Amino acid sequence: MYMFGIGEILLAVFLFLAIHYWSLNRNTPITKWPVLGMLPGLLYNMSNIHDYLNLVLKQNGGTFIFEGPWLTNMNILCTSDPMNVQHITSTKFENYGKGNDFSEIFEILGDGIFRSDSHIWKYNRTLLHSIFKKESFQVFIHKTIEKKLFSGLLVFLDHACKKGMQVDLQDIFQRLTFDNICYIVLGFDPNCLSIELPEIACERAFTHAEDTLFSRHVKPRFWWKLQKWFQVGEEKQFIKNQKIIDEMLYSEIKSKREMQGERKFDLLNIIMTEAGNGENPIDYEFLRDTSINLLAAGRDTISSGLTWFFWLVATHPFVEAKILEEIKENLPSREHSWKDLGAKGLSKLIYLHGALCEALRLYPPVPLEHKSALKSDVLPSGHRVKPNTMIVYSLYSVGRVEEIWGEDCLKFKPERWISKKGGIIHVPSYKFIAFNAGPRSCLGKDISFIEMKMVAIAILLNYHIQVVEDHPIIPSLSVVLHMKHGLKVNVKKRSI
Ligand code: HEM
Repeated sequence: MYMFGIGEILLAVFLFLAIHYWSLNRNTPITKWPVLGMLPGLLYNMSNIHDYLNLVLKQNGGTFIFEGPWLTNMNILCTSDPMNVQHITSTKFENYGKGNDFSEIFEILGDGIFRSDSHIWKYNRTLLHSIFKKESFQVFIHKTIEKKLFSGLLVFLDHACKKGMQVDLQDIFQRLTFDNICYIVLGFDPNCLSIELPEIACERAFTHAEDTLFSRHVKPRFWWKLQKWFQVGEEKQFIKNQKIIDEMLYSEIKSKREMQGERKFDLLNIIMTEAGNGENPIDYEFLRDTSINLLAAGRDTISSGLTWFFWLVATHPFVEAKILEEIKENLPSREHSWKDLGAKGLSKLIYLHGALCEALRLYPPVPLEHKSALKSDVLPSGHRVKPNTMIVYSLYSVGRVEEIWGEDCLKFKPERWISKKGGIIHVPSYKFIAFNAGPRSCLGKDISFIEMKMVAIAILLNYHIQVVEDHPIIPSLSVVLHMKHGLKVNVKKRSI
């Protein structure tokens, strides 16, 4: 007589439990499995993670606890409740730091502003804040961007028009913003954006490193650490990428240190002059950490913001027409180019500002934020938090909360930002969270709006952008909200 083996019995029990749990949970978007917790649902929906998280948050009143597999310590409190966000980022700021998990995942950032807490963070923040608010620094940024638009972006787009080439606008923005931020921070332009679209090792290394940083969020910690330890898979490539980035940074820092006579005007030189002195020059590590943090801060965020903005504008011709009308109305005269708008002129472009805010609301370049509680606390939603609880707030979901933005929250509607008097409506930062809120809010917000407006004007006035038909628009799996397949467009010269 045929007897069941132990393996078959276990399999039958497993299948029974699986079907039982599936039928119990099939109407809820997130299923908690025995042993595996909620991880299977997360992995299954990984390609659509932000909308999935948004749905789960919506169905759970804005806050829920994600439970990971047994013994993995992967329990995470996820929220999009603006009151919780305000509590974590501002009211109880002292109680919510970056924590050990963040620190381990983002080790590559060293002791820079993004990865540090308490006094190291404060030192970094005060130093950078004092530099960012200098008028001379703002003029330098404006000039750097303007120069790159003329010598890089417009030259490339003219070339693409003449050749009738299809262009991946996301790749172009990555190159543009990398060149800009390298010049601003290091005083060196790697020239990623030129007609040949060269493969620049350091730029590629940055992009790939980000993908690994995202994977580390969803893999159990022991697993990616094991891969790192044995230098296999994605972690092996990560080590190579970090080496490429470090070599570039240290070589730039070294040449600055050795430079005699008058120094160029760039962020590292300002730091070396202001924070160091002859006897105690600033050490290499600090300069390396500051540079990598700023390169990460200023490159992908702006390129992501621009990519989603151009996709939205290209697919909403009414918005495009209104932006163009506003730009033309504000040009000093018909013969003048957009260059003559200057910083003051840029601030008059209210509709364009609203359209950029709207793109950043729907597609925040940093879609998720990490925090870790130091002490026990109770969130405004009533959820209890223990020390070391990992907290993730979804910036993507906060931008889609109906109670804040209304029933049409999924619509791209720049008008929602404009008051009856024609000014910009102020939305508190814990609701319009794209630049984060509280003492750790983005230091580059003003710079970002300037750069995005300049790029938007330069392109929209000179070219008509058409998204290639049937091109799939899907967010990529990364710490920054890029498009998985880029943004493929056809570019035609526009006669003004
Ligand atoms: C559209 C463009 C940008 C967006 C959406 C954005 C968004 C953010 C967000 C969400 C944070 C909080 C990150 C965290 O604490 O983990 C942040 C912090 C920061 N951002 Fe930005 N950023 C942008 C551009 C820039 C630029 C261009 C710079 C500077 C060159 C910059 C410099 C910083 C710095 C230094 C911090 C750290 C603040 C701190 O921890 O005290 N950002 N940004």
